[in-house]
Parts: sequence; C-alpha cells; structure tokens
Amino acid sequence: MIRISIDGIPHDVAAGDRLVDAINRAGVPLSQVCYLPILGPIQTCDTCIVEVDGKLVRACSTLTSAGMNVSTTEGRARAARTEAFDRILRNHDLYCTVCDNNNGNCTVHNTTKLLAVEHQRYPYQEKPYQVDNSNPFYRYDPNQCILCGRCVQACQDLQVNETLSIHWEDPHPRVLWDGGAAIGESSCVSCGHCVTVCPCNALMEKTMIGHAGFLTGFSAPVLHNMIDVVKGLEAETGYSAILGLSEAESAMRTTRVRRTKTVCTYCGVGCSFDVWTKDRHILKVEPGEGPANGVSTCVKGKFAWDFVNNKDRLTKPLIREGDRFREAEWDEALDLIARRFGEIKAAHGPDALAFIASSKCTNEEAFLMQKLARAVVGTNNVDNCSRYCQAPATTGLFRTVGYGGDSGSIADIEQADLVLIVGSNTAESHPVLATRVKRAHKLHGQKLIVSDLRENEMARRADVHLRATPSTDIVWLCAVARYILDEGLADSEFLGRWVNGLAEYRQSLEPFTLEFASQTCNLPVETLKSVARMIAEAKGVCILWAMGVTQHSNGSDTSTAISNLLLITGNYMRPGTGAYPLRGHNNVQGASDHGAMPNFLSGYQSVDNPDVRARFRSGWGVDLPVTKGLDNHEMVDAIQAGKLRSMYLCGEEMSIVDSNANYVGEAFAKLEFFVIQDVFFSTTCQFADVVLPASPSLEKEGTFTSTERRVQRLYQVFEPLPGSRPDWVIIQDVANRLGAGWNYRHPSEVMDEVAALTPMFAGVNYQRLEGYKSQQWPVAADGTDQPLLYTKNFAFPDGKARLYPVAWREPQECRDSEYDLHLNNGRLLEHFHEGNLTYRSPGIREKTPDTFVEVSPELARSRGIESGSLVQLTSRHGRVRVRALVTDRVHNGELYMPMNSTTSPVNLLTGSHTDPATHTPAYKETAVRMEVLAQAGESPLPRINPRFGHPTPQNGVEVERKWQQPGYRFPGDLVQIETKREA
Ligand code: SF4
Ligand code: SF4
Ligand code: SF4
Ligand code: FES
Repeated sequence: MIRISIDGIPHDVAAGDRLVDAINRAGVPLSQVCYLPILGPIQTCDTCIVEVDGKLVRACSTLTSAGMNVSTTEGRARAARTEAFDRILRNHDLYCTVCDNNNGNCTVHNTTKLLAVEHQRYPYQEKPYQVDNSNPFYRYDPNQCILCGRCVQACQDLQVNETLSIHWEDPHPRVLWDGGAAIGESSCVSCGHCVTVCPCNALMEKTMIGHAGFLTGFSAPVLHNMIDVVKGLEAETGYSAILGLSEAESAMRTTRVRRTKTVCTYCGVGCSFDVWTKDRHILKVEPGEGPANGVSTCVKGKFAWDFVNNKDRLTKPLIREGDRFREAEWDEALDLIARRFGEIKAAHGPDALAFIASSKCTNEEAFLMQKLARAVVGTNNVDNCSRYCQAPATTGLFRTVGYGGDSGSIADIEQADLVLIVGSNTAESHPVLATRVKRAHKLHGQKLIVSDLRENEMARRADVHLRATPSTDIVWLCAVARYILDEGLADSEFLGRWVNGLAEYRQSLEPFTLEFASQTCNLPVETLKSVARMIAEAKGVCILWAMGVTQHSNGSDTSTAISNLLLITGNYMRPGTGAYPLRGHNNVQGASDHGAMPNFLSGYQSVDNPDVRARFRSGWGVDLPVTKGLDNHEMVDAIQAGKLRSMYLCGEEMSIVDSNANYVGEAFAKLEFFVIQDVFFSTTCQFADVVLPASPSLEKEGTFTSTERRVQRLYQVFEPLPGSRPDWVIIQDVANRLGAGWNYRHPSEVMDEVAALTPMFAGVNYQRLEGYKSQQWPVAADGTDQPLLYTKNFAFPDGKARLYPVAWREPQECRDSEYDLHLNNGRLLEHFHEGNLTYRSPGIREKTPDTFVEVSPELARSRGIESGSLVQLTSRHGRVRVRALVTDRVHNGELYMPMNSTTSPVNLLTGSHTDPATHTPAYKETAVRMEVLAQAGESPLPRINPRFGHPTPQNGVEVERKWQQPGYRFPGDLVQIETKREA
C-alpha cells in the first residue's frame, strides 16, 4: 500500500492501481465517460482529466505511485473535462425525456449533470448515416453515438468476436461492423456485450424501444416533434431545467419497471443479471454484477427469453384418453397420479417406479424429486441428465482427486499460463467462459492447445490444434504423460508430497509410447513432444473438457487420464491450475449435488452408508432404500424388460436427448403410467399419460449451481403463467397426494433442510446468497466456501490424490464398408440442447432456423454435395433426413450434426453402447452412411448467419489513431494554452 493525496486528503491505495479506481473508491465524483473497470482504460473520452503533481493527465490510464498529489478540483482540470465532454455532446442529441435510455443510468445524461453543462459550446452535428435495424435483437443509431469506443473494446477484447471497429480516419467516424457491413449481415453473434456497455442510447435492445418510457412509444414524426420542442427550451432554460424534467420522468418509470436478479436458464457458466420488465414484457437483460460473468452474456442469456411468454406454454394439466389428450383440472390430474403410482407400487413394489429430476430446474427441486422417490415412494430409482454428459468427468475426478466438480473458478482459467481444451466447443457451448480464454490468449500471452475433431472457433485460435482420430484422446493424453515422466519433466516434489500410486500408474503407461500414440491418433510424434513440453513448462495449466471426451465408451477413463496428467505436472492446489469439466445445463451440477442420482443422496452421500441413512432417517422420519437404484440408461432397459412400469419425468426431453431415440421411444410406449411435467408439450409428452404444466426459471425462486460449483439465487421475475405451477410446488403436491405431509412454503426452507442433512452444504442459506452473493461448495457451517478446491489437501482420508491407471480400448462402434462415415455431434451457439426453448425465439430462428449436417469440402466434392443438398444419414440404429452444409470446419469423412432439432434429432442415429463405468451413452461413436436425396436446395444456414461474416481483429479501439487525427488535441494541452493566453 502507498499513500497519495486526493484533493488534499491522504488516501492509502495499492501501488500501481488505476488512479480512476482510487478516486472512485475515495468517493470523489469524477466524470469518466468511456471508463468501465472490466474494459480497462480506453482513453477515448478525455473526461477523466485530473491534475497530478501539476500536470493534466487522464486518471483512467494513470497508475498510482507513492506521494502522488492529485487534484480533481483544480480549475484547469475542470476546464479540460468540460471541453472533452463538450466535444462528446457534439455527437449526441440530448433528448432524455423522450429517450428509452432515460433510466437513471445513462452516462451521458449523468455526466451532463455532474459537469453542470448548461449550454453546449459545440452544437450537435448529425452524421450522414441511417439507423441500422438489421439485427433482430438490437439497433445502432450513429446519430446518438458518442464514439466512446466501449462497444469496440468489449467486442474486440472482452467477447473477442472482433466484429467492431471505428474508422478514426473517416471525416464522420462511426462504429463499423465487419468494417462496414450491415449489422445483420456481419459476424456479430448477438452476444450483447456492446449493447450492455454502451453508455447511452446509441446501441439499444429492440425490446426497450418504445416501451421503457412514458413518452417514448410514439411514432417517429411525433417523437421528432417532441424532441424539437424539448430542445427548443434549451436556449432559454439551459440544460438543468430539461434534465430536471427528464429525471422526473425517469423517477416515474421506477413505478412500473421492475429489475429482478436471475440466473441464466441455459448453459452451466452461471451468468447472472437483472431482468427489466414492464408487466409481462421483458424490456431487457442487464448484466453487471454477476460473479461469473460481469457484463458478459451470450445471445441466449441476453436475448432468448421469448419462450417465457410463448403462446404454446402449457397452462392446463393434460390427461391421455386413448390417442388424444384432454385438459383437466389440477386436482383431477394429481389424484390420478397418486392413484396410479399407489397401484403400481402396491402391485410391483417401489422399484417399479422411477423419477428423473431436471437439470434445468433448481437445486431445491432436484432435492425434492429425490426425496419423493426415496422417502415417499421408497426407491433409489432417481437420476438426472448428467448421465448423458458429465457423469464420466465426475467419475474421473472422484477416482483421482476426490470431489466431482471443477477444481477452481473461471478466474483460475483466465489466469492460467496454458489452457488445454479437449473435446469442447467452448466458444459455442460455454460462450461467456470461452471469452475469458480468448481474452487471455489474445491479450495476456496465455497459450492454448485444443484437441477436437472439428476446427471450431477455439481450435482456430489455438497455438496447437490436435485433430486426433475419433475416440483416441486417451491415447495421446497417456503418451504425453509417459513422455513427461520419462524425460524427468514431472513435478516430482508435488508427486512426492501429494500423490499416491505413482509406481502402478507408471507401469500402466507402458503401452503408451509416442510412436503408438502417433499411429493410433494420427498425430506426429514431434507435435506430441512439443505439447508435452508446453504442458510441463507452463507455470499453471487448466484443462477444460466436455462431451467430446465424456460421450465415448472410454469417457470415464479419458477424464481420469486428464486428471492424472494434471497431477504429475503439479497442476492442482494453486490458482491458475486444475481440472474443469464444463457442465452443460444451467443446473446439471446442482441436480447431481442435490441427490438426484441412484447411488447418492445430497452432497454425494452414498445410499449404502448406514450413517448417512441414519442421518436422513432422523431428518425425514422414514427408512430409506439401501441398494443403488437404476440410472436413466438402465431405466430404459428396465422398461423394455418389463421391470419398470411407471416414470415421473421432470423437465427433460428424454425421448430425443437420450441416445438411440427409436429404442427409447419404444420403451416409453410400454410404460403403464408416465407423468411428465414441462413448460411446453415436448416430443416426449406424446408418450405421457399425464402432462403437468410447469413454470420456467423466471417464474420461480430457488438456486442454481454452475460449472464452477457456484450456488446462486434466482428471484421470481413474473408470477407463474396462470394455470402453471413452479416445479417445487408440483412435486410437493404429488408427494402430499401420496401422504407425505410436506409443508414447504418457500424454496429457502428446502435449502435449510439440505444444509442440515448435507455436510457439503452446511453453511448454505438464502441470506448468504442474497442478491448477487454466491457460494462455491463445499461450504462450511460458518459460511466459508472454497472457490479453489484442494488448497490444504485432496478429498481423500489421507489428504493425498491418487494416480489411477487406465487402459485403451477401441471404440464400440466403428466405421466399416457399409457405414463408412463418422458422425460427430454437439452444441450450437444459438440453440440450447434439443431447442425447445430457443426455437421459440424469432430472432434466433431468423439467424439459425434449422439443424444441418456439416460435410467437408473433400467429401462434398466426391459425393456431388452442395450446401443445401438434402441427404439421408443411416446408422445401425436409425435414419434422418437433413440438409448439408459444406464447411472446412470438418475434414475428410467426418460429419457433424448439431444436437438441436426436434424434427431431425441426431439421436435417431446414435446407439445404446455406453461408457461402462457410468452408462453414459457413447453418442460420439456413431458410424453412418450418407445418400444424396436432392442435390440442390436452400442452404440450412442463411447468409445472415454470423458464421458467414468477416471479422476485423484489432487491439481494442486503437485510440492512438484517433489522437493522430489533425483535428484532435488533448483537452489538457488546449486548456493549458488557453490559460497561458488568458494570463
Ligand atoms: S459480437 Fe455483436 S453483439 Fe457481441 S459485442 Fe460484437 S457487435 Fe456486439
Ligand atoms: S455505440 Fe459504441 S462508441 Fe457509440 S456510444 Fe455506444 S458504446 Fe460508445
Ligand atoms: S447460455 Fe451460458 S454463457 Fe450464455 S448467458 Fe447463459 S449462462 Fe451465460
Ligand atoms: S474515462 Fe479516461 S479517457 Fe475516458
């Protein structure tokens, strides 16, 4: 710490802090139009000028040093700031009273007030450009754009989509998309970063326009007349009177615009934000304080909420009558469920029923679902969709380090020296997390290695892209580990102090020579050596992996090999290191954490542990079933075998997201009684006997747990749509119809029960999670959480990690002469999972209307295929018809299909073979043949999809180019000259 003086008052600050931060912390008001801490000093606005030791400088780009004497009040500094802001007002028509951005947080408005500007020195000058409305979600008005460059900085260096720039040399600079394209035809992925950070109304969400203000919903001519009237007053009254008027209007808005904090309902990154609403209209999503995301979002979290008010929402329970469904009242549906569950249990025992919790629902709802299964019905047949993706990663971590979760936080990934991504299309499946890697790679010298069959965005950016033969990641990972040990590059001190099992592990690596790996994986030996050295030499390594690893028959073993590699290189127990299995759904981590698993109660407490059962018996007053139940893969087999007769499925589209959809559909058709609760009538609902209308996340309270083990609260934005009910209410209703006698009045009471019964969550409660507060488990009773796991020891009785030997097995389904192509599948940025929510967003549909199969240019040439050709893919398990997209993201005989489709679901093609340790389907081990049905057709991806854009990478806004323009002069210099002249 050092001492500086600000306006004559001493302040202790950290040496090297940004001066603007120190001034802000001291509570001294200072204009700073272009500054946002997350974006760093952009230096375009010059409104933060202060005097430091007699010199005028920008506070945002000045670092503190001992003894610094800072004046914000000195006359020349004030004059310089006013001059700078006057220049800004030349670019912006101040019509706050009729502006949708007049919500108390407009930086231009607030700075006008702070600097007490009454009249502009430089009059407003219109720019020769039209408003750009071509993006479905937001619009850009060049005539309101103050050229602060925040949007450019965010797009270039935070989101790192590199779409935006400002051509400073232009006589009328403006923000450009892809150097001058229409927004809607550019590479913009609609993440919303630019809109969120824009300090005024130049970039705005279309859902705000005409809706936010009391006087903003008028037609353009009326609005322009009103603006003229208001502006006409300025000459006479000065701005203070006009600002007073607009502030009164802004204050009125607070009576009808609500801002409610929620957590994103889509992927596992855990972005949180305020949702601004007026009645049931979503005005906008406003990120800012989220511990995982700050100002960041992706297109789904920022814009894909139309489904909440979609006309297809279920609002009445449905009961099957023959081949049709009829609407029913809640009482009738619940009575029927209780009667049929009771009858089936009485006739066949509790294990004839099974329960599936939703990874999209809250922790509290997952906990109640497994409590219903165990304590009310008496079966351990309960699971969640982590079986389809993340169970192998959890197993790999259980085997080696003890906890089945990310070993650190997104901040650790950001500060690693080297990030290795295996089998994860991170930029599309975990977009905001990917931005942190892209940023560290672009700006901070982080090294990036990507192993993936496709050249996805991360692979394109990587220093090394490994395109290993499908299903062989385990081989090169083990070979690299062996090479590191053989060459003496391992961290022997860490191994000696913290790791058991080295001798046995070394022995297991015997077969994994570099030559064997090279041959098996089709990777050069030299590349493998260089990867090994990069990993061994990096100060901190984080490994990220996802379904490209786990959805193979060796998914658990490959995950184990990843953790082994981290252990031998000492990449645990320190910031900037560790294992990061990226969780797919918003709450797939939490559903497992809270006991929706056949072998674990909440907090991974084993069902066969008598002490655990005794604890739950004392809490719940019932004996619990002892033996492990069926997982969701086994459930389908058990239905086919006639052992499982009834199922209660909560919020999962299981008939098309489980592999081998034909087989799953056949099974569901055999169920005697099938209950589904969901927001929409899903594809799976066609098999149901009763469908219950549930409420989505915006209509309820609860908590989600993100990929970094972060528990966060979501607050109710809307009342449940009349007729629908929150899932926790429905599960309680069902339990009580079965005689449970539950009386939860709020999800917080469920969380209190979780904490009481679960050592891992002992200190979790709603007060500690209030607002944007969060906790990363495990959480001690006093509320202490653990952002970084394993700081003192590993989670085994002796505190040491365990190297776990693994072996290589061929994939279970391979190509042959009949099925000659390998079909890969995975996520797409714009859609989530099967697409039931995101296809209901018109903007997303406009950009990405349908699924497709990616075909390499080589294969396309040899088969006479073009983008738009209709092809039929046939596997050993089924067939689909789909349009081709020719792209060099895939190569040779590799095909890729996004998983997002209810009409041509890829799982009609996948098989039932699984990872033996977890029964996770080997979705990625699918062989197909391809027939061309129609050669010509419309491309499944329209030209307006951002994948066809042409980004313009550069470092931030390149403000130096602005300073080089003949018309530019640093306001500080100008003021000094004027002051001298006056003297
Ligand atoms: S990608 Fe598009 S929405 Fe995202 S910051 Fe860049 S221009 Fe804005
Ligand atoms: S559009 Fe960009 S440059 Fe213009 S005011 Fe908004 S953030 Fe600043
Ligand atoms: S989908 Fe994921 S990355 Fe996108 S806003 Fe939601 S949580 Fe964040
Ligand atoms: S805030 Fe410092 S130049 Fe804009």
